[in-house]
Amino acid sequence: MIRIAVLISGFGSNLQAIIDAIEEGRLPGVEIALVLSNRREAYGLKRAVRHGVPVVYFPLAPYSRAGRPREAYDAALAAILQTFDVSWVVMAGWMHVLSGAFLRHFPSRVVNLHPALPGTFPGPQGIQEAYEAYRKGESDHTGVMVHLVPDEAVDVGPVVEEEVVPIHPEDGLDDLEERVHTVEHRLLVQALHSLLC
Ligand code: GRF
Repeated sequence: MIRIAVLISGFGSNLQAIIDAIEEGRLPGVEIALVLSNRREAYGLKRAVRHGVPVVYFPLAPYSRAGRPREAYDAALAAILQTFDVSWVVMAGWMHVLSGAFLRHFPSRVVNLHPALPGTFPGPQGIQEAYEAYRKGESDHTGVMVHLVPDEAVDVGPVVEEEVVPIHPEDGLDDLEERVHTVEHRLLVQALHSLLC
């Protein structure tokens, strides 16, 4: 079995898409070794527990309070994953930029999901920024990408899957968010299938 870690910080709907795909046999040979969150209240932790997946809550704050560098947290994070015998890492709504102190332990084996097309709207507000660009007439679509994470650059790396998501005149931000999330759930599973199966 290929053992993956899923890193989350919030709602965990993309984690749920992976769990469902595994339970339905759509990712043969893949298992989630653990779900790790840097936020205690992340709803995705409950999803994991409900499905019998091990969870770890590992916050950055104690490291920051102790004046320790971000790299110390990242190295400890990698060590936790190694104790779970993880070979691939999936960032699914993970709100922390991983440094080389983490990435060197999983070269070309870290996958990130970004709710916009390659080279567009990096950072946590990708959907909102695409919506604002549309409202200003600067663009008529956005998209989703799944990519490998070679270094610390945010939302940049070799693309595994990408798909355009249209924006319609009657869309509110909520409508666009829902459309993007629907595509994310499918594309993330598709990308994991092409990488791991
Ligand atoms: C997704 O839109 C992901 O692309 C972004 O954060 C969101 C996480 O959603 N980086 P969820 O926690 O998987 O529901």
